[in-house]
Amino acid sequence: MRGGYNSVQPSFVASETLGLRPVLRGAFRTAPRRPRSAASPVYQLAAAAGGGQRRQERPSPSSYGKGAGASSKKGKDEKKTVQQFTRGQGFAKTASTKSTRTLLRPGVQSPPRTVPSHIPRPKYAAGDIPARSQRLLPRMPWDIEVKTPEQIERMRKAGRIAREVLDAACKAVHVGMTTDEIDAIVHEETIRRNAYPSPLHYNGFPKSCCTSINEVICHGIPDSTRLRDGDIINIDVTCYVEGVHGDCSEMVLVGNVDKRGRELVRVTFECLEKAISICSPGAEYSMIGAVIEDHATQHGFGVARDFFGHGIGEEFHDNPNILHFRNREPYGRMKVGHTFTIEPMLHETMNTRYRVWSDGWTAVTEDGGRSAQYEHTLLIVEDGVEILTRKTSDSFPYFWETEAAADAPRESDS
Ligand code: MF3
Ligand code: CO
Ligand code: CO
Repeated sequence: MRGGYNSVQPSFVASETLGLRPVLRGAFRTAPRRPRSAASPVYQLAAAAGGGQRRQERPSPSSYGKGAGASSKKGKDEKKTVQQFTRGQGFAKTASTKSTRTLLRPGVQSPPRTVPSHIPRPKYAAGDIPARSQRLLPRMPWDIEVKTPEQIERMRKAGRIAREVLDAACKAVHVGMTTDEIDAIVHEETIRRNAYPSPLHYNGFPKSCCTSINEVICHGIPDSTRLRDGDIINIDVTCYVEGVHGDCSEMVLVGNVDKRGRELVRVTFECLEKAISICSPGAEYSMIGAVIEDHATQHGFGVARDFFGHGIGEEFHDNPNILHFRNREPYGRMKVGHTFTIEPMLHETMNTRYRVWSDGWTAVTEDGGRSAQYEHTLLIVEDGVEILTRKTSDSFPYFWETEAAADAPRESDS
């Protein structure tokens, strides 16, 4: 997703110059950082720490973003509960949950994977160059490309392939698996279809997909971290096929996930579903955020404000920005031939502040609460919207579908 929302500066500044990086927050602006490569100090720190372990303590704000080598002042093994702050019914109330879930810390990354040279790759993949717009002239944020029928056919194919790859990855998830193993599956399944895994070398991103566990909001880097019983994970897959990208993500429950975690995941899916349902020619882009924020808030979940959905096509991230919260941004109305993603990230609490690890990518909730996300690539058509990354009959089912099947009265019961 794209990042950077600022009510102080005109939004077209964010749209045209910031791209993916979540660098604006109110009047505060962090220096754009280059993501580090595998040979960077971060990588070595993680390796030295024997990464993939998890902190047994609540992160103090300062203990995030220092890499695995950082330790907070308090003893490392001291067990603390994750304090969670929720707001409901108009009162600010502090709810202390008895969660003993351990927080994540960076694991060890494997060496970068390679893509056979016969597979066409996006320009940014060639070297260490920023993925900038290929357009020469700056554009206003409401300047949204209308795809040609020929581009649309390629987008359909890219969406279908991204879906197949995501399904393969989701089906493989099990307790004890590493996120690097997920990355290997995504990588192999992508190149097997003569597609390029879009995240690989995108602005220096070192892996072929994003894997975001529990308190990771988005952009988690696959590494030696092992999935544990009770985790929730988002797998985000983007495939570059015949010159265009298809982008989708979903959540997988690892083993037994508690009730609130399942609710978070399901409500996040419902937010995406509701947002898609209002998409059609003439609909205002700004309505997407209203629908999502309303539904999330009804369940006591906050909506991430710093990461956006995006136009997509020959570029991975393009106009328009898709904000997932109430807004009055001038992105205009949907037209037949627009292609974009919706990818809401919900927080377990109403605190939607975030931090980024020193790897320059991994975005985590400030309070350690969990976060969930679903994403589809969409095409506006005459009579509504086509979900280019929709599931097929072979897809990995949603957990509530399989739960419902298990609970449903059997023929023999009646
Ligand atoms: N797939 C993400 C999105 O939904 C973007 C990932 S960019 C990466 O837009 F570099 F982090 F991979
Ligand atoms: Co996206
Ligand atoms: Co994505």
